[in-house]
Amino acid sequence: MLAMNFRGPYQIRPDRNRPMPEIEHPYDAIVRVTRSLVCGSDLHLYHGLVPDTRVGMTFGHEFTGIVEEIGSGVQNLEVGDHVLVPFNIACGTCPFCKQELYGNCHEANSEATAVGGFFGYAHTGGGYDGGQAEYVRVPYADVSPIKIPEGMDIEDAVLLTDVVPTGYQAAEQAGIQKGDTVVVFGAGPIGIMAARCAWFFGAGRVIIIDHIDYRLEFAKKYSYCEAYNFKEMNDPVVFVKKLTDWYGADVCIDAVGCEAVGHGLQDITGRMLLQAGSGTALHWAVNSLKKGGILSIIGVYGPPWNLAPIGSIMNKGITVRANQASVKRLLPKLIDHVMSGRLNPKGIISHRIPLEEVSDAYRMFSKKLDNIIKPLLIPPRAFAA
Ligand SMILES: NC(=O)c1ccc[n+]([C@@H]2O[C@H](COP(=O)([O-])OP(=O)(O)OC[C@H]3O[C@@H](n4cnc5c(N)ncnc54)[C@H](O)[C@@H]3O)[C@@H](O)[C@H]2O)c1
Ligand SMILES: [Zn+2]
Ligand SMILES: [Zn+2]
Repeated sequence: MLAMNFRGPYQIRPDRNRPMPEIEHPYDAIVRVTRSLVCGSDLHLYHGLVPDTRVGMTFGHEFTGIVEEIGSGVQNLEVGDHVLVPFNIACGTCPFCKQELYGNCHEANSEATAVGGFFGYAHTGGGYDGGQAEYVRVPYADVSPIKIPEGMDIEDAVLLTDVVPTGYQAAEQAGIQKGDTVVVFGAGPIGIMAARCAWFFGAGRVIIIDHIDYRLEFAKKYSYCEAYNFKEMNDPVVFVKKLTDWYGADVCIDAVGCEAVGHGLQDITGRMLLQAGSGTALHWAVNSLKKGGILSIIGVYGPPWNLAPIGSIMNKGITVRANQASVKRLLPKLIDHVMSGRLNPKGIISHRIPLEEVSDAYRMFSKKLDNIIKPLLIPPRAFAA
């Protein structure tokens, strides 16, 4: 079959000779992928920043597909079902799944102490191959995948596997109160969706900060927010303080994570591996908050080490809320938002690219070329789906 194949940092290629995945466990399903997406999280893999990303791995944790085969224990799915598959691999029965912390399943990646199980996310994420392929093995198939609701556009469905729940959770865990000023760092798909969803929780003002103008322009329209370029500011923290009578924002959302740019020292310490990537957005967010404010971290940081500004967090009384998104928990509510037209997920897809051209998709997304916001990959035999 055809699948993307990781050959090393900045080197991926379409591989036509990947072995077909097989049922390995009674709870597995094999899914023929109809659509998949490339995520900012894939860029951390592509850039060689995630430990134990092995040559030969297939990435892709955002996908829809048609069930081709099921294991003997699968009860909720049937061959022929068209499903959307949340990016978290979750067993459904461990204490964390029971608390609906599906991004923190104890079983799906049982050797890791911090990280849950994810499709196509290195051996750090459990070593599962992902959905930027024609076929993929879906473990615990009864737990997270659901049939795409009737009448839902497949492009909306595929965005419900990560971007929409992640953006929504970023806003939800931020504890936004009516009238709050919310500052979102990062105008990628996740930041854009977080800014859009902040309004659901009663935000009074939503501000997004990035350094890529076309993304800021897009965010203004899509998320109905103010948008500012940090390259045009002397200091983003002072900028936010000025906008908020010098108190600081009620809520900051870090939708950037460990590949933040904008601060030389952070960049250098990140590159020299003195920390796991750069903490620039994290620092800006903490310092832009008012005393007693809430920091929602949805951008990904590696578990091991970053120079977090704990002194400011402590002395300002900041509450930090962070996690991988718990997609399954949020799906019922978000399906309702999509079906009723309150959310338009597919509006953020900027590029529709054949899976054969997956290398170009990564290159463009990594370099932010051609006004790219979110690239969709279409496997060769899925055009008709
Ligand atoms: N927690 C989760 O469940 C989850 C799920 C999906 C993605 N993520 C993470 O969310 C983050 C964003 O994902 P994405 O798909 O939007 O990625 P993306 O790469 O498209 O967007 C990141 C944006 O941040 C901007 N940026 C860089 N440095 C900045 C800074 N200092 N201040 C403000 N903006 C800055 C970039 O210009 C870019 O537009 C990534 O870290 C990704 O791994 C987390
Ligand atoms: Zn993703
Ligand atoms: Zn579990």
